Amino acid sequence: MVNLTIDGKKYQAEEGQNVLEVALENGIEIPHLCYHENLSPYGGCRLCLVEVTRNGRAFLTTSCTYPCLDGIIVKTDTPEVLRARRLVLELLMPLAPEAPQLQALARQMEIEEPRFKTDEEADDCIRCGLCVRACTELVGAQAITFSGRGYRKTVEPPFGEEALDCIGCGTCVFLCPTGCIQMVDKSAERTIARWQRTLPLKACSSCGRYYIPFAQIEFARQKSREAPAEDWFDLCPDCR
Ligand code: FES
Repeated sequence: MVNLTIDGKKYQAEEGQNVLEVALENGIEIPHLCYHENLSPYGGCRLCLVEVTRNGRAFLTTSCTYPCLDGIIVKTDTPEVLRARRLVLELLMPLAPEAPQLQALARQMEIEEPRFKTDEEADDCIRCGLCVRACTELVGAQAITFSGRGYRKTVEPPFGEEALDCIGCGTCVFLCPTGCIQMVDKSAERTIARWQRTLPLKACSSCGRYYIPFAQIEFARQKSREAPAEDWFDLCPDCR
């Protein structure tokens, strides 16, 4: 076990836990957009900044990527921390001005109008990489990736063309903190426009609802010997 202090109170953490995990477990609120408990931390949104003092030296760092170390002192709401988070949010907002999660955070931080603008047209993506990690680590499809650097960085299918490895499972859609990945099911097809991907759907043999891409069934069966037999997918979850 590791002993650390957060906002003046002593806590114990397991080896390998990061500061954000321990703070959240103990009801200490730190804003975060790109952290997910089942994915490797990436530090993409930078909203989870805290002040850490280690060996007498204090610095700001992202709490989702900073490990709990014995004796560290963490402060989550100093004026410097709040100012830095505000600045980060003001930089993110022009990228996704309509995103409800960002707007809610802006209200909490009392930001009426961000001071920054972007020359590029907003595509509602804050480049936090949650979709890329989910596709790689949770799903195992590796259908999308980062391309470009700095302010030109984007998340794209390989070579900017149809994401042929996308199985249409929608994990990226559900996890995206800005809602910038849209998935539309229309009769027998599912389209995820951001990945330029349209996939045929299988219908439930009982209610007739088109509910899962054939590609997702095939992927599950290829990935795992323990995947259910193909006829298990004949019924949708509601009819099963
Ligand atoms: S949650 Fe830590 S950087 Fe996004």
